[in-house]
Amino acid sequence: MSGHPIARTGSLLILLAWALCASAGATQPTPRVHPMPGWPKDEAFDGTLAEVGERLFVERGCVRCHTIGHGRKVGPDLAGVTGRDGPAWVIAMMLDPAEMRAHDLRAMGLKRSYHANMANRHLTPDEARAIAEYFLGKDRGLLPERR
Ligand code: HEC
Repeated sequence: MSGHPIARTGSLLILLAWALCASAGATQPTPRVHPMPGWPKDEAFDGTLAEVGERLFVERGCVRCHTIGHGRKVGPDLAGVTGRDGPAWVIAMMLDPAEMRAHDLRAMGLKRSYHANMANRHLTPDEARAIAEYFLGKDRGLLPERR
């Protein structure tokens, strides 16, 4: 019976430490946009979607502001973009750039280096995924070089 209060104090301390760590973590600006948790896994890569993505990249006006491997335009050159923070980050940037500019450290940095803001083209998650697969295919050398 005499060990009881000590054990209680111990677990209270552990709880307090945990709460402190949790609240410290919550103040870090991290992307809150997670449209597809766990995606993409390598085996999920599909060349068919990459082709759809390539078409969307042109049709949805991304080419007005971006090149892939031909230098900076209004926005950054997107060559190698999936290797920076991963394809899920890229998808988040496509789906909600304003949210990313407000909460993600690297998006905040990009915002300072470019005069325009990344446009929200109101893509569906499926469209964003297809475009991300196109980037992934480019970055991994899985697609033929066309432009
Ligand atoms: C009006 C110009 C404009 C259009 C249109 C646009 N973007 Fe952007 N994009 C930017 C700018 C500028 C940035 C840099 C971040 C910022 O300042 O918001 C950016 C950033 C990005 C990034 C992050 C780049 C990096 O280095 O990590 C990705 C990915 C991206 N855009 C994809 C797209 C896709 C896909 C489309 C089409 C659906 C698109 N963008 C349309 C201007 C544009």
